[in-house]
Amino acid sequence: MRIVPGTPALVTGASTGIGREIALALARKGCRVALLARNRETLTAVAREVEKAGGEALVLPVDITDEPSLGEAVRQVAGTFGGLRLVVANAGLGRYAFVEEQTADIPEQLIRVNYLGTVHTVRHALPHLLAAAPSHVVAVASSAGLIPHRLGSAYCASKSAVIQYMATLRLEVLDRGVGVTWVCPGAVRTPFFEGSNLDPEADLPLLARLLVRMLEPEEVARATVRAVERNRREVVRPFSVRFFAWTRRMSPGLADWINRKLP
Ligand SMILES: NC(=O)c1ccc[n+]([C@@H]2O[C@H](COP(=O)([O-])OP(=O)(O)OC[C@H]3O[C@@H](n4cnc5c(N)ncnc54)[C@H](OP(=O)(O)O)[C@@H]3O)[C@@H](O)[C@H]2O)c1
Repeated sequence: MRIVPGTPALVTGASTGIGREIALALARKGCRVALLARNRETLTAVAREVEKAGGEALVLPVDITDEPSLGEAVRQVAGTFGGLRLVVANAGLGRYAFVEEQTADIPEQLIRVNYLGTVHTVRHALPHLLAAAPSHVVAVASSAGLIPHRLGSAYCASKSAVIQYMATLRLEVLDRGVGVTWVCPGAVRTPFFEGSNLDPEADLPLLARLLVRMLEPEEVARATVRAVERNRREVVRPFSVRFFAWTRRMSPGLADWINRKLP
């Protein structure tokens, strides 16, 4: 879809990292952007940046695991903006541990935030997107949803679930004017890894550390906006991750063997 000045948009996880950059990229196109996350203070700071960049901001502090409040927030955005044409379900977090060392709260929290948070954002937004078609919905998934890695079982599973959900949604709504995209970045330089128990420079598999460069959140934001405008189904960045994902699809046994044997 074309992103024109005044396009009503909603971004979850807009207070930092990738979500903040997507909000700013939309602001530069003159969009009206609803900013959702839990922390009101950081959202308010981003709102000021959005206004400075040429957009209009609406701050809505909400925890996306609180489904009724999330639904109310989406309704409020659509009411205030007079509709909704672009939704970016980006909020998420990472927690990493070997399966045998995981406590129950790790997989439960990742499914609640990363998967169910995305599902409920999309579900509540969809009637508005269908009414405003042509429109578009994006989920920020991860390369981890395509390529498993040690320590990441709960995170990888939550992101694979997001990808399958979005892929199914695309089958259902594309011909009714709603574009659907999922974005799968490799490691991105954001506050994501703080307190996640994963150091991407040390803990990722050797090939990933050697061949996959760290992305900047601005690059992911640019690629996301371009994907919306070109109605792409999947965005995988950087190129080396796209190559690894392709190799895994072609020869999963070989990909697993390399993953197991290399440190
Ligand atoms: N950084 C990476 O290497 C990387 C790679 C691939 C994919 N991703 C994905 O990209 C997305 C954005 O991550 P990021 O790297 O930008 O990390 P980040 O800087 O930590 O941003 C995460 C955002 O999600 C929000 N959030 C977390 N839990 C929430 C909840 N329960 N309710 C509402 N908002 C919540 C946070 O705001 P509050 O804390 O204020 O709620 C924040 O705005 C995530 O889905 C992540 O899985 C990241």
